[in-house]
Amino acid sequence: MKKLFIASITATLLFSASAYSAGSTHSTAPASAAACAGCHGADGNSVVPNFPNLAGQHAAYIEKQLKDFREGYRKDATMAPFAKSLTDENIKELGAFYASQPAK
Ligand code: HEC
Repeated sequence: MKKLFIASITATLLFSASAYSAGSTHSTAPASAAACAGCHGADGNSVVPNFPNLAGQHAAYIEKQLKDFREGYRKDATMAPFAKSLTDENIKELGAFYASQPAK
């Protein structure tokens, strides 16, 4: 739990730094992205091959996957709990954010 907390703080700092340098509100990470950074990377570029990259992915695709995980049409024990806590608004913001991040 402590680790997750530190990861969230780190992610928040990274997000503010990148939003500042990019100077665009489109690249500002929504608060709900803090929970995703540990696996998918702060900007959606994952560092572990098991966790898919989200950066540069189409917003509509990201939204569809999150809704499918949330409703149980797409099953994954790791992702489901995270998707379940997201509102439609969260999902829209997350899709727009990751789509705006350059894939590395
Ligand atoms: C504990 C690690 C972990 C966390 C935290 C996590 N994910 Fe995932 N995510 C995964 C894994 C593993 C998969 C691949 C699941 C599969 O194989 O179907 C995945 C898949 C996805 C996909 C589908 C990608 C694709 O290419 O189809 C999306 C979108 C996604 N995650 C978004 C998120 C968002 C948004 C959050 C935060 C709210 C989040 N994830 C939090 C591990 C995680």
